[in-house]
Amino acid sequence: MAGYVYEVRPENMERITTPELANKFIDEQVKALKKQIGNGKVLLALSGGVDSSVVAALLIKAIGKRLTCVHVNHGLLRKGESEQVIKVFRDELKANLVYVDAVDRFLDALKGVSSPERKRKIIGKIFIDVFAEEARKLTDVKFLGQGTIYPDILESKGVKAHHNVGGLPKEFDFELVEPVKFLYKDEVRVVGKALGLPDNMVYRQPFPGPGLGVRCVGAITRDRLEALREADAIVREEIGKLPKTPWQYFCVIPPFKSTGIKDAKRYMGWAVAIRAINTVDAVTATVPEIPFKTLCTIRDRIIATVPGVNRVLWDISEKPVATIEWE
Ligand code: XMP
Repeated sequence: MAGYVYEVRPENMERITTPELANKFIDEQVKALKKQIGNGKVLLALSGGVDSSVVAALLIKAIGKRLTCVHVNHGLLRKGESEQVIKVFRDELKANLVYVDAVDRFLDALKGVSSPERKRKIIGKIFIDVFAEEARKLTDVKFLGQGTIYPDILESKGVKAHHNVGGLPKEFDFELVEPVKFLYKDEVRVVGKALGLPDNMVYRQPFPGPGLGVRCVGAITRDRLEALREADAIVREEIGKLPKTPWQYFCVIPPFKSTGIKDAKRYMGWAVAIRAINTVDAVTATVPEIPFKTLCTIRDRIIATVPGVNRVLWDISEKPVATIEWE
């Protein structure tokens, strides 16, 4: 891969705050992409997050089917995420999308692993392996699309913050295509909206690369992971209805059971924790008030519909001292 060129946002670059400015940016970028890529082909890892989705939509506008998007389902995505990537990019935008179901591969490798750092490393490594395998199946691809945004350059020299992932193997010598590398997150969202991407993709809350893997605390088991995914969807739906939504809100499942009672018999079930925080930069975080009625609705829905869960907790810890994620 071509060495990373450390660049600075041009001083006179206008902040993209309106649909008009976004459209102007889109026109300019489509022209620049056509010029950079010529008749070449581009490969892009498409997670469904706002950055890679905006890059995909820009590239589709510029080069259509000469872009190949690879979406790797590692089994740690939130409910409905892979389905949405397929619907938006394959069905609606007619993208050339390779969907890789790598769920068993990831979950088998994670079996019995409880260290958060080991989990992150395994997820990162298998992701690269799977992506490299797909890249090898393609011919004549010279370019690699990346959803690098300006904070990635400022904070970690062009690597998405927090990625415990090495780069692609040396055999790949891609030239990078990074059309949103000078944009801040809010600008990427304005551009995404102007490109017609759905709101729940454009305004998606930050989601860690290792996904639900770091929210299924300790060694991941399939039953706990499924319970987490279902409970998380309920938490996001109910808190998402509030007039002002927190910066990040999700669900965590700890690796212990506690006593419940069903049909007059005691039994052991999982507990899930609601986590909702506000922050500016994720370095410190506060806990916003959540109406008690919303908490009760979440509790009732989870207890009634999520198999194996008999207890719902609300994590009111601030950062510091608690981190946002539990792992
Ligand atoms: P913590 O838990 O350190 O999280 O307070 C701060 C922010 O970073 C996100 N986070 C991650 N993002 N890969 C990511 O891409 C990771 O391994 C990871 N761990 C934490 C977290 O969701 C929060 O927004």
